[in-house]
Amino acid sequence: MKALRIHEFGTPSHTILEDIAPATAGPDEVTVRIEAASVNPLDLKMLAGHMQPVFPVSFPYTLGTDFAGVVETLGANVRGFQPGDRVVGRAGASTGGAFAQTAVVPANSLCRIPASMSFEQAAALPTSAGTAWQALFGVGKLVAGQRVLIHAAAGGVGSFAVQFAKQAGARVIVTASSKNHGLAKELGADEVIDYRHEDFSARLRDLDLVIDPLGGDTAGRSWSVLKPGGTLVSLVDPTIAPRGDVNAAFVFFQGDTEVLQGITKLFEARRLQVILDSIHPLDDARVALEQVASGHARGKVIIRASR
Ligand SMILES: NC(=O)c1ccc[n+]([C@@H]2O[C@H](COP(=O)([O-])OP(=O)(O)OC[C@H]3O[C@@H](n4cnc5c(N)ncnc54)[C@H](OP(=O)(O)O)[C@@H]3O)[C@@H](O)[C@H]2O)c1
Repeated sequence: MKALRIHEFGTPSHTILEDIAPATAGPDEVTVRIEAASVNPLDLKMLAGHMQPVFPVSFPYTLGTDFAGVVETLGANVRGFQPGDRVVGRAGASTGGAFAQTAVVPANSLCRIPASMSFEQAAALPTSAGTAWQALFGVGKLVAGQRVLIHAAAGGVGSFAVQFAKQAGARVIVTASSKNHGLAKELGADEVIDYRHEDFSARLRDLDLVIDPLGGDTAGRSWSVLKPGGTLVSLVDPTIAPRGDVNAAFVFFQGDTEVLQGITKLFEARRLQVILDSIHPLDDARVALEQVASGHARGKVIIRASR
């Protein structure tokens, strides 16, 4: 089978599409024929070697965590799945393996995909939608009637977070460049700020929650828009700590199949849009990685595991 691997840390140009022998499923594992995978900024951080202290890897390492596909074979202890089932799941970052034609994964990391959902749409979900959910409700404790600022609303995490926050009954304010204002409004944003031409911190005050996938200067200016008791949730700064009477917390995304299954049900009920930036064959996986590295993907970048 084909797998996108690295033998050293580096950039997308260091990835190599190699022909390797597929692994065999252990007793609690499932072999999945991967149909689609999605690219996350995490994949680039793994590729660069920046995540070694948190998610150590050994070489050769097959990139990719988020995938969707079809169950091929089951380990002896696996119950609840059949060959042919359409599934979505997330491999651990240290294990990787999603940017390949097949993957062996723990059965308990999988969820079934509704018939109305494509493999590309399913593959977009695990990390981005899961993190959006965890940031808003797990860490941010968002409830109806609150006001939330979501930075980078057009990105992988942001495009889901806007929809979840709106459906939870919050007033949703977002930042995005002007080309993405229509998209942000369509997803449910009540107010859109063009971060290239306006300083959000000059307009906003007394918010309950800020979701920050950017850090740096954006994080620095986010404190002043929060009310006493409000919370700044960072996706990028593990050292963030409360300041004065404003709370702060880092999201360390943990895959949760119950949450993921719930998100697929929202889609099935036509209450969730999955925004796909672009779809690339596995042979062009480097292009997909470069697109995410640009920092301006619109929704999710997908790799199609063509055969
Ligand atoms: N801690 C965790 O567990 C965890 C989990 C998931 C993700 N993350 C991290 O969260 C970050 C975001 O992930 P993602 O998948 O959402 O990234 P992404 O999809 O690559 O984000 C791209 C988006 O960012 C927007 N953007 C860029 N600069 C901006 C700015 N200054 N202000 C507002 N928007 C801006 C772009 O919109 P425009 O084109 O309109 O500029 C683009 O749509 C990454 O660093 C990722 O590693 C952390």
